Amino acid sequence: MALGEYRRDKDESPMQVAIKVLKKEDARLQLLEEACVMAQVDHPNLVRSLGVCTTGRPMMLVLEFAAHGPLNDFLKEHSTGLAKMSPEMQMQASMDVLEGMAYLEAVGLIHRDLAARNVLLDHEYRCKVSDFGLAKFGSDDDTYYVAENLDALPVRWLAPEALEHQKCGS
Ligand SMILES: Nc1ncnc2c1ncn2[C@@H]1O[C@H](COP(=O)(O)OP(=O)(O)O)[C@@H](O)[C@H]1O
Ligand SMILES: [Mg+2]
Repeated sequence: MALGEYRRDKDESPMQVAIKVLKKEDARLQLLEEACVMAQVDHPNLVRSLGVCTTGRPMMLVLEFAAHGPLNDFLKEHSTGLAKMSPEMQMQASMDVLEGMAYLEAVGLIHRDLAARNVLLDHEYRCKVSDFGLAKFGSDDDTYYVAENLDALPVRWLAPEALEHQKCGS
């Protein structure tokens, strides 16, 4: 991830952006798919994509910059002492992630990689779900996996409804 500056037109003052740079040339299609998914969603609790740069190499995905970085690091740094996250802030973070994910559910996009490392905090400490590298559009009617027993499911990471129905998407 690199930092950059972006302006929509030359009279506008530049804004800070994050730039996801293609690491391996053979992953161009993957980054394009991620850009394509991001272009189809828009919500205050999702990291916004501003565009993709396909001319020249490496290919780049330009994203709104989340100044306070990943939630997992933030949680580790603010788990004790004076810097400890207040219950209000914890509740706000949970609500932010929940609203971002509820929006994804409503538009039929399955994130498939939700983890604190893929939730970013912006300059106002609001959470935004990011990293759409594994996301795909789909629904319950598409292919899914029905487990014969709970041993075959990644129980620690499952949503309660997937546990209850012993059914999860691929
Ligand atoms: N919009 C952003 N603003 C600030 N940092 C970012 C942003 N997007 C990604 N990062 C940083 O780059 C890291 C990796 O980005 P991510 O999209 O999760 O890529 P990967 O597919 O490599 O996991 C994140 O954990 C975060 O530290
Ligand atoms: Mg990630």
